[in-house]
Amino acid sequence: MPPGLTTDFSSDPAPGPLAGKHLVLGLSGGIACYKSAELCRALIKSGATVQVVMTEAAAQFITPVTMQALSGRPVYTSQWDGREANNMPHINLSRQADAILVAPCSADFLAKLLHGAADELLSLMCLARPIESTPLLLAPAMNREMLAHPATQRNLAQLTADGACVLGVGSGYQACGETGDGRMLEPDELLEEVIAFFTPKVLQGQHVLVTAGPTYEAIDPVRGITNLSSGKMGFAVARAARQAGAEVTLVAGPVSLPTPRGVVRLDVRSAEQMWQAVQPLAQQASIFIATAAVADWRVADAAAQKIKKDGSGAAPVLQFVENTDILASVADSPRARSGQLFCVGFAAESHDLQAHAEAKRLRKKVPLLVGNIGPATFGRDDNALLLVDAQGCHPLPRASKQTLAGQLVASIAQRMKN
Ligand code: CTP
Repeated sequence: MPPGLTTDFSSDPAPGPLAGKHLVLGLSGGIACYKSAELCRALIKSGATVQVVMTEAAAQFITPVTMQALSGRPVYTSQWDGREANNMPHINLSRQADAILVAPCSADFLAKLLHGAADELLSLMCLARPIESTPLLLAPAMNREMLAHPATQRNLAQLTADGACVLGVGSGYQACGETGDGRMLEPDELLEEVIAFFTPKVLQGQHVLVTAGPTYEAIDPVRGITNLSSGKMGFAVARAARQAGAEVTLVAGPVSLPTPRGVVRLDVRSAEQMWQAVQPLAQQASIFIATAAVADWRVADAAAQKIKKDGSGAAPVLQFVENTDILASVADSPRARSGQLFCVGFAAESHDLQAHAEAKRLRKKVPLLVGNIGPATFGRDDNALLLVDAQGCHPLPRASKQTLAGQLVASIAQRMKN
């Protein structure tokens, strides 16, 4: 048996998704600078090295000391910084970067970029960057009226046309007390965008449908039967597919996880609702990934009112009916059988993973089945997977669910090419 086909897939943790990337994180002046501290940490935690450059206005909101401590590098704030031997930090810093991310990017800084202004280090460096090889990502942050103003909208459109990647904005309460569009995206959302930016678009043009989480089968209005699935693996798969360029729809059972950026999410509760949601979507999808832990049975006639104790000590007797096997039904549809829809199943087992996974792949008639040990992974942020297809087994050693999801997506893309 090749190594890794046991249930112990332990190995060194995989490098983060931004390993090997060097980013310049530019801060222009805005209250959202307070989020840039968290963003800097998140980028570094994901494997990037980060060089911070701040405008004078940014330093009014957060100190270079904070950003130096978080990035582990001296912060640059001036084009006259004598630390560079050639006294050209705008050239040196932009040549070293895999990308420049300006977060927050103020309305004023957008206007400066648009005109190619170069009167302080950050705008000078953006202008001096090799435009073909050093991408510029902008995370706008401003009051809703400033964002909606035709001047800002014109600037955003022109900067996009000039090759900058303008990231979205958040909506909600603003520091000025108003409510609307213009908040800088949250650090975890910006991190997702940066990872997506660097992810090869191996699923471009694909429509991916993912089921995730547990289902909940009602017994009466206050009780039900569910399982320990956290939905984390399915959400990670949906995120990875979107980062790989796919349009993604996620049908989620009852979980309280944030929706991955750019993913369309439909919440359902029962297996029957999941099946109703999946059927029309499977008509549009080109890839179906069934990660959900769907209940095999539901209560035959759930009580309309809470079942009360009758004092006799006798427990109620429940009758069950089998739920539709969503994966098997979709895999048996004409689109799947004709190769228009590539189906991937998951199997959460407690033992004999390889044998169960191989048998389940044949039973469900799917080209690819992903096995994992349920009790060892439910609710955790890491996992180990066993990919089973007609050629055999391929273990993916223990890593974060997000890392594994990226590897699975790459593996699906490879299979679709063949
Ligand atoms: N699945 C599904 N609909 C069901 C049951 C399972 O779509 N009603 C899918 C799951 O999302 C997963 C795969 O089928 O992709 C395997 O699920 P699992 O519960 O491991 O398999 P079962 O068929 O229920 O087999 P068993 O419980 O006997 O192991």
